Parts: sequence; structure tokens; C-alpha cells
Amino acid sequence: MLASMEILIRPDPAAASATAAAVVAHLVRGKPACVLGLATGRTPVSLYRELIRMHRDDGLDFSRVTTFNLDEYAGLGPAHPQSYRYFMDTEFFRHINIRPDNTYVPDGCAADLRQECRDYEKRIRDAGGIDLQVLGLGSNGHIGFNEPTGSLGSRTWIKILSQSTIRDNSDLFDKPGDVPRHCITMGIGTILEARHNLLLAFGPKKARALAAMIEGPVTAMCPASALQFHPRVTVVADEAAAAALSQPGHYHWIEKNKLDWQDYG
Ligand code: F6R
Repeated sequence: MLASMEILIRPDPAAASATAAAVVAHLVRGKPACVLGLATGRTPVSLYRELIRMHRDDGLDFSRVTTFNLDEYAGLGPAHPQSYRYFMDTEFFRHINIRPDNTYVPDGCAADLRQECRDYEKRIRDAGGIDLQVLGLGSNGHIGFNEPTGSLGSRTWIKILSQSTIRDNSDLFDKPGDVPRHCITMGIGTILEARHNLLLAFGPKKARALAAMIEGPVTAMCPASALQFHPRVTVVADEAAAAALSQPGHYHWIEKNKLDWQDYG
């Protein structure tokens, strides 16, 4: 158990991703049938590449791992190149020895989206809950697709993407009008139930949101700030994302004085 958020600042995204991969690998080695929560987006791509490398070179074994992704666009099926199911299959799952049946992404094309949300929560519960949830951070402070002003107690549900998120993600689509306006996302309440949250933030566009999340008040205006209530959060940021933090020396001090048993190996 960590007494406060653990803030690990690394020079660049490659070094930060190596640290994050060590956290994931530590869990997978210690608990081979663990449950991982996963994120999509630009941020975790190098984490997934490093885990693929560890699988290939060091025999990191995913054969008993179960995964749950945070979110999916409503209306995009698994064959759509911008769907999060497609992203996970092509960027990660196909390159490791995970059983496809053990990988869950919300079904954005379910006939009854509300039922799909309820079922998703049940699947997480039936799997024994999430051991480690990987999170990215929106430039507006979102985690999953929990946008500013949304409930900090919310569960997996259908949500409306904010205009700033649509703008941030529009370069991945042919044109901004193609970005779906709705999604299914785990709620903040769901994320807070993961036993350990691992948040990655890279680049200057995340600096303001990261400072608000770690050092600002807990507020629905920065949904990630709800993580301040969580007993075990590890943040891995590169220096650009950490640039607006007011206490970088303190975070380095805490990391330097960590006891051996608190390390990830
Ligand atoms: C993705 C997700 C989002 C992203 C966030 C950052 O599954 O839940 O919260 O993590 O929008 O996206 P990138 O990494 O593209 O900057």
C-alpha cells in the first residue's frame, strides 16, 4: 500500500514506458492469472511495445491474464480501424500469448448499449476485480472517457465526449465530423475500485491536467483528481508532462528513499 500517490518522473516517454512496463511485468510474474485494466490512445503504445518485447525476449507469459479495456466508441465495430478493439488487437494482443477470449473491450455496437454497460461491470466483478488499471490522461483531465463535470461516482455507462476530446482525437480520423460523439466508458467509481492504478502522462499538452490531478483540489472539473482518494496510484510522467508540478524535488525524494520492498524489480 502506498501512503500517497507515487509520482515517478522520467526524462522521456521511452524511459517512462520502461518503468510502466516494469510495474505491469512485476504483477504478471507475481500473479500469472491477474486481471489488467488497459487503455488505448497514443500514450500506452510504447508501454505495449515494451511488454511485447518482454514477452518475446524474456518469456513474459500472458496465457492466464485477463484484460478489460476502459472504453470504446459507440457505433464502431471491431473491424473499424479507429475502434479501440481494433487498436488493442493490432497494437498488443496479437503479439503476445493472451487468449483472445480473455480480452474484454466494451461492445460499442451492442444492440442494447445500456445492457452492455451493466454486463461489463458484471464481467469485471466475476473476474474478481481489476488488479492493475493502466490509464492515460486527457488534456482536459479525463480518465477513460469521464469528461469534466461528470459524476466522480459513476459506473460503466454511455457518455458524451466533450468537444475538446473530439478535437484532441480528430487527427486519428479522416475528418473531425467522423469522431463519434458517444462512447461506453468505465466510470470513475469503476476505476477507483481497481486495486492499483497506473497513470501515464507524456508531453507538454498534459502538464496542466497532470498538475491539477496531483496537486489541485478534487473536483469534477478534473475527473482524474478523484484518484487522490485511491490508496494505490502510481503516476509515470515524462519531464514535459511534469513541468507544471510545484513539488518535483519532493517526488524525486520520495522515490529515492523508497524501501526495497516497495520497488518493482
Ligand atoms: C483511452 C482513454 C483516454 C486516453 C486519453 C489520452 O482508452 O481512456 O482517457 O487515455 O484521452 O489519450 P492519448 O494517450 O492519445 O493522449
